[in-house]
Amino acid sequence: MLDEKNFTKYLSRHEIDAAIQVIAEQINRDYAGQELVLVGVLKGAVLFMSDLLRQIKVPTEIEFVRLSSYGKARTSSGTVTILKDIQADIRNKHVLIVEEIIDSGRTLKFLYERLKSAGPLSVEIVTLLDKSSKRVVDVPVKYIGRTIEDQFLVGYGLDLEEYSRNLPDIYYLKYPN
Ligand code: IMP
Ligand code: MG
Repeated sequence: MLDEKNFTKYLSRHEIDAAIQVIAEQINRDYAGQELVLVGVLKGAVLFMSDLLRQIKVPTEIEFVRLSSYGKARTSSGTVTILKDIQADIRNKHVLIVEEIIDSGRTLKFLYERLKSAGPLSVEIVTLLDKSSKRVVDVPVKYIGRTIEDQFLVGYGLDLEEYSRNLPDIYYLKYPN
């Protein structure tokens, strides 16, 4: 059962906003004069995707994918399958994958290679949070909000067994089990 007494605040909504502002400025600079397709990774990235999208000034389409590798487990299994694919043709487009957190990198590596093979002009990755010490496979992450330690986080799209995505701030679990 979810016990919010065990949640300790890790990043406030103000800190999240500030990190998004910095990323958005870089994106607006890097893609100036070009068009962009944001590919959000469901479900965790929805809040980050929408807040980032609001700050992007270049013409932008949005798409979503849903991948399974975790299920309700807290560590990734290594096997990634597509539950929902993008609908748009990304040939000759600049694609930016939007993820809320990268852990082993397995989920993103799979998606990155798959989108690259569809003939886009470029594929880059933006993540709000990066547990870089947990990386198992190499993925080129262009924009990072915060590099974080290995902690299980919830809130702002991040779930604990599907709950707590609605919390506006990000928390870590004091007693992860
Ligand atoms: P990876 O394939 O190991 O990089 O796993 C990345 C995915 O695992 C993310 O998109 C999240 O959905 C989930 N995940 C990783 N760390 C956390 C966490 O601390 N809290 C909640 N979900 C997480
Ligand atoms: Mg995710």
